[in-house]
Amino acid sequence: MGLKNRTRSQRPDPTRSMDAESVSTYRKRLLDAIDVDEVAKLGRDAQRARLERVVTKLVSGDGPLLSSTERSALVRRVVDEAVGLGVLEPLLADPEVTEIMVNGHRNVFVERAGRIERADVGFSDEAQLRQTIDRIVASVDRRIDASSPMVDARLATGERVNAVIAPLALDGASLTIRRFPKPFTADELVARGALDQPTIDLLRGCVKARCNIVVSGGTGTGKTTLLNVVSGFIGRDERIVTIEDSAELSLAQEHVVRLEARPANVEGHGRIAIRDLVRNALRMRPDRIVVGEVRGGEALDMLQAMNTGHEGSLTTVHANTADDALARLLTLASMSELELPYEALREQVAGAIHIIVQLARSDDGSRRISEIAAVMRQPNEAPTLLPLVRRGDAMLQAPLEHFAPPPWLQDRFAAAGLLASRASR
Ligand SMILES: Nc1ncnc2c1ncn2[C@@H]1O[C@H](COP(=O)(O)OP(=O)(O)O)[C@@H](O)[C@H]1O
Ligand SMILES: [Mg+2]
Repeated sequence: MGLKNRTRSQRPDPTRSMDAESVSTYRKRLLDAIDVDEVAKLGRDAQRARLERVVTKLVSGDGPLLSSTERSALVRRVVDEAVGLGVLEPLLADPEVTEIMVNGHRNVFVERAGRIERADVGFSDEAQLRQTIDRIVASVDRRIDASSPMVDARLATGERVNAVIAPLALDGASLTIRRFPKPFTADELVARGALDQPTIDLLRGCVKARCNIVVSGGTGTGKTTLLNVVSGFIGRDERIVTIEDSAELSLAQEHVVRLEARPANVEGHGRIAIRDLVRNALRMRPDRIVVGEVRGGEALDMLQAMNTGHEGSLTTVHANTADDALARLLTLASMSELELPYEALREQVAGAIHIIVQLARSDDGSRRISEIAAVMRQPNEAPTLLPLVRRGDAMLQAPLEHFAPPPWLQDRFAAAGLLASRASR
């Protein structure tokens, strides 16, 4: 067989328009037909337009056997595979998709509204999947290969990406892309019954009065969502440093420094913990420190910061009641290598935390504030909690009841210009 025939026989049979083989053959021909360096310099849209023109010409040149719909689907698929995130592009373009999971080149799953379903896309072959992973990893200046087969990174567009390849991944490369949907606003939370307008006003007042606030709740009760709303009450003239394991907060203010912790690499080096970031934040002249969640010894650093002039800081903790939240903070603070006696730790907690906002998930799936409590310091005793806002029922369906703030909180509101001082009333 002559060379010419051989090349011809490699051409896909256009009647089998969308099989993986023809997509991959057209992709190869596309790459031969263009000047890759030149195309790489084009902007994203121009790049796509150029490639679409070239592929259309290639497909048309093979005969008029495809309908125009089939032809444009084939062209789009070939171009998808050649640029950006390949066949994942349409999934990324779908705002309802919150997670994309690839287990080997044939199996792509997505999460929509909390439900996992199989996506009707797949990579032509393992090499194509690897190429997409390489492209993602290279875009964040990292590399992935047999000697370093695991990467966890954040894309410039905010998505969190995890990739594992052979030899660690046994049945083809694995790729997980987690997206962060736009968080709820205060008004949206009110509309969903999570809290009422007077509670929003109370929280705004507590932020303005530089109270240290802890948002407490179980997994998925909306802690991060509420922290985001509450952080939004911080003034635009204040310098905010946010510290998270995985950056989820999205603050509207301009004067924000976002820090994200980093896990150790495969060799076990290079870990930067939340704790290191909290300590470093103190040297950044912050007006407010917002820690996404305290889970370990960083609790003590956070409490110390709150106690020493960084009032008005915010965080969340995993606990089922406001009382548990205080106990949990005490336990976490004791995990620090600084072995302070129990009473001293208790003092740190009681002195640092002003307000606890408790969230819970009700049976109907909604997430609501169940209580907001003020922390009452007691000399030489454990602090107690005074409710400011509370629901009358455990099912979280009753409206929120509001109670008068304690004198120390009234004084703070007065000092912040939110309330006439007690002396003048
Ligand atoms: N009040 C609410 N009503 C309904 N869904 C909510 C509410 N608050 C948060 N969510 C949703 O619940 C999920 C978990 O919220 P998140 O704030 O991340 O919880 P946590 O930080 O406690 O784990 C998210 O998908 C979020 O959009
Ligand atoms: Mg969270």
